Amino acid sequence: MERTFLAIKPDGVQRGLVGEIIRRFETKGFTLVGLKFLKVSRELAQQHYDVHRERPFFTGLVEFIISSPVVAMVWEGDGVVASARKIIGATNPLTSEPGTIRGDFGINIGRNLIHGSDAPETAQKEIALWFKDEELVNWQPHL
Ligand code: CMP
Repeated sequence: MERTFLAIKPDGVQRGLVGEIIRRFETKGFTLVGLKFLKVSRELAQQHYDVHRERPFFTGLVEFIISSPVVAMVWEGDGVVASARKIIGATNPLTSEPGTIRGDFGINIGRNLIHGSDAPETAQKEIALWFKDEELVNWQPHL
């Protein structure tokens, strides 16, 4: 079954949107298989955003991600990677559609509330970076 990695960023936590954001994936029907609340180390933040290392916003992005706690999650379900990206909305909240998380709650590209893996291969790498195998719960809802 496909899995994706999602992280509610410091702005999502600080604005009290953790419950609202998790609700959107729960009510869609995806299955939560990993969840933790943590202050991210600089090393983890740099590894997670390694693909953006040469971008001018990289340093600020890393400083922001380590500035206060995040909620890291793994969700499971058919097509969950692409579907979660739709639920999250476009990277820049100024252009994300209403009804998406970023479209409903954000206006700033550097404070776009949540990260979601962009492809199944990226999801596998990000899940391995953020979670140990024993931190993931293998289960199926009986519905
Ligand atoms: P995310 O989905 O976490 O992946 C990379 C992040 O870089 C992105 O969300 C934004 O938060 C951030 N980002 C992308 N472009 C910019 C930008 N021009 N200025 C600041 N941050 C950016």
